[in-house]
Amino acid sequence: MSGRPRVFVTRPILDEGLAVLRDAGCEVDVWQDDLPPSRADLLARVRGASGVLALLTERIDAGVMDAAGPGLRVVSVHAVGVDNVDVAEATRRGIVVTNTPDVLTETTADFAFALLMAAARRIPEGIDVVRRGEWRTWGPKVLLGTDVHGGTLGVVGFGRIGRAVARRASGFAMRVLRHDPGLPAGPADAEVGATRCEDLRDLLVASDFVSIHVPYGPATHHLIGDAALEAMRPHAILVNTSRGPVVDTDALVRALAAGRIGGAALDVTDPEPLPPDHPLLSFPGCLVVPHVASASRATRTRMSVLAARNLVAVLRGERPPHAVNDEMVARAVALALDRNRGRL
Ligand code: DGY
Repeated sequence: MSGRPRVFVTRPILDEGLAVLRDAGCEVDVWQDDLPPSRADLLARVRGASGVLALLTERIDAGVMDAAGPGLRVVSVHAVGVDNVDVAEATRRGIVVTNTPDVLTETTADFAFALLMAAARRIPEGIDVVRRGEWRTWGPKVLLGTDVHGGTLGVVGFGRIGRAVARRASGFAMRVLRHDPGLPAGPADAEVGATRCEDLRDLLVASDFVSIHVPYGPATHHLIGDAALEAMRPHAILVNTSRGPVVDTDALVRALAAGRIGGAALDVTDPEPLPPDHPLLSFPGCLVVPHVASASRATRTRMSVLAARNLVAVLRGERPPHAVNDEMVARAVALALDRNRGRL
């Protein structure tokens, strides 16, 4: 066995990220398939790893940490959301968990706004009409949509991405409402002229577009369910680029079927992937894309590099650029200095 720390990467990430790991002297084992490893394969391949660079598709829990063994020091997630990792369990074991915020903010916000506009102006339906050979003439009532400019945007979750979406809205002369119970009114609101809604319902009843930007967890599971959808305006469009289970899928199907909301534009769904015969796909006003909001070449490159740098930093006993369980970092740095001096 070589003395180099072993790192398991759960999918071929962009080369720039892999180069960071290799240049740092890691022994890099990459899962060479476009689909994620099965649970059994994941458990087998993490054995003996000092670091795991995981995508959002892998559940990293106590079982994976056990399989990796006591040498596992870092789980680096190639995403901003870390709901696929049992962070509490990692913290208990002294394992640092890192993620890739900031580098994807603007790209994800671009995409959320693109979804909003596509659904409002019925662009996918228009594309289908042309492709099906049904474009017969210009017509005054053809594919009438909803104006984006001058509308009211409700941003649920006013973190980095929510604020970046709100900035885009101000360029369209939109009124912005935002809901984020933990965040008092402040400079972020002033920057985009947002009005804080303490109560989610106040935002829902007044918005033409509702865009979701909360992290997923027990507190946000099915945040948008029957009651929330009932509160929305009948022409309002729901945009979700956060995590699928923030929206109760069955409730959304009911709302769309009953015409209680105007439409939905979803980058994320529950389940993922959405089967082609799923009822959500039967509504022309429901647009679904396969979880690609951060998928620009530049941003995926930055994410791969940041995920790799996070991982290497922990193995070197340095502070990683973005640790989720910050409380672990000091301990890990001290331990690493002890155990790993001179290895990387
Ligand atoms: C994230 O980073 O959490 C996104 O969902 C993947 O781009």
